[in-house]
Amino acid sequence: RDGEGGSELRSAPMINDRFLRACRREPVDCTPIWMMRQAGRYMPEYRALRERYTLLELCRNPELATQVTLQPLRLGMDAAILFADILLPLEPMGAPFEFAAGEGPVIHAPVATKADVDKLRVIEPEEGLGYVLDAIRMLKKELKVPLIGFAGAPFTLASYLIEGGKSSQFAKAKRFMYTQPEVWNDLMAKLSEVVRKYLRKQIEAGADAVQLFDSWVGQLSADDYRTYVQPHVRNILKDVETCGVPVIHFGTGTYHLLEAQREAGGTVIGLDWRTPIADGWAKVGADRAVQGNLDPITLLAPRELAEKHAARVLEQAGGKNGHIFNLGHGILPETPVATVQAVVDFVHRTSSRS
Ligand code: CP3
Repeated sequence: RDGEGGSELRSAPMINDRFLRACRREPVDCTPIWMMRQAGRYMPEYRALRERYTLLELCRNPELATQVTLQPLRLGMDAAILFADILLPLEPMGAPFEFAAGEGPVIHAPVATKADVDKLRVIEPEEGLGYVLDAIRMLKKELKVPLIGFAGAPFTLASYLIEGGKSSQFAKAKRFMYTQPEVWNDLMAKLSEVVRKYLRKQIEAGADAVQLFDSWVGQLSADDYRTYVQPHVRNILKDVETCGVPVIHFGTGTYHLLEAQREAGGTVIGLDWRTPIADGWAKVGADRAVQGNLDPITLLAPRELAEKHAARVLEQAGGKNGHIFNLGHGILPETPVATVQAVVDFVHRTSSRS
């Protein structure tokens, strides 16, 4: 094509880089938007694939993971997020799990003792996670928008390992942290080392940015965050930031942690919908970009109301360089595709700088 036969091995040129520009707080033609969990059950083409394959089969097959990653781009998203899951490293580390229908993840043998932690392996990403790196290489040949790689943060991964699945109060994880602080520290150090190497390899394979998901860290007080979590997250982020691509540091319920998260690192800090952007940005600092923060449940409201909430987010961000529009947390499966489409178009149109 275009007299460039045999160009299949090269990466496709990136055409839309407003997401990366916003991460670096550079001027943009309009505010970039992508949505956490943008590939998923709210899309009919995803549900069709899920009738034939389990979630883990989709993740472990690079062709299928590529196909699913591309699905939401028809809605005009300014970035793709690799289709995978934060829990994938747990299996090669020695903690197998499954996604049980309706229950979410179930860890087969939850971690409770020092012996359990000692048994966990600090793997190299190529052993056991090579399929994720293959999917990234495959995607880079197709994409015209930047690709976001990701990993779970050590607290969030540790909470699944110890709780054995989803939790509301994280009592087992926090009890572990308080009663066996040295073992907790070893667990966090092992997880951090795996995550640090995994993010580096994703960038080497072609990820244009990476996001660290610390989804449940908002459960901790700022003091406990600083004592039990921050040193580990800092070890990851300070190292990964030297790779030269933007690093997004995300959590929910983190209003009280934003300064401490900022200290731990991140080119971009995620804000959830409880935090007014202007307020959160002041805590995060003008030298960082911010990402967020539409309440995902507003996408279940009538379209005009969803747009009104999106307008409020843009207003709060004040048209400043360094805002990436996103939801405050993942999109819900019952979200109408038409509302997602309407909000993407609305954000582009309303934020246009021309
Ligand atoms: O589009 C994308 O955002 C990329 C893919 C992605 C998935 N999981 C696929 C997935 C990403 C970025 C994740 C991250 C993830 N996984 C997080 C952090 C983000 C967050 O939401 O806080 C967490 C905590 C997990 C762990 C996890 N995976 C849970 C708790 C569940 C079950 C919840 C549910 O909705 O059933 C999953 C399953 C999962 N991972 C789905 C998808 C699309 C559900 C869809 C399915 O079963 O087909």
